[in-house]
Amino acid sequence: MVEYNRSRREFIADSTRIVLAAAVTFAGIHSCKSGKEADGTTGATDDTVALDVSLPEYSVLANVGGTKKINVEGEDKPVIVYRIDQTGVVALSSECPYDQCEVGDLTGTKFVCPCCGAEYDEWGTMTKSPQGEPGFKHDLASFWAGIEGNIITITWGN
Ligand code: FES
Repeated sequence: MVEYNRSRREFIADSTRIVLAAAVTFAGIHSCKSGKEADGTTGATDDTVALDVSLPEYSVLANVGGTKKINVEGEDKPVIVYRIDQTGVVALSSECPYDQCEVGDLTGTKFVCPCCGAEYDEWGTMTKSPQGEPGFKHDLASFWAGIEGNIITITWGN
């Protein structure tokens, strides 16, 4: 009799541990799956990515003038993150709105599209139209971005 009870108690204790572990795992997997996953990010929710600039892969963003392209789930082209000053960060789509090519890295204060030569300033504003399309004026898509301490947060849908 005693033995049955103890093993049942142990059985319940073990089952509880297993259920909790499953719940925690499910919660972990679920939040990643529904979040904007991005290369090595420190945190993600449905519409936000957080980058920790104290991590080696983001240390370039710890300095003013630093830029990095990151791949973000749901974005066809990498997102450009640019540390514009001590308290400011710019996040832009690298997808050229003219014919969807990926614009090059920041050179000085401009991004150049390798396909038809459109140019954008460091805020993503088109400063030169594609070759042969002087009337085409569209900026790079931009996302809300901010920095708090070592954490850069980028939010979609604002
Ligand atoms: S696709 Fe960018 S200028 Fe043509």
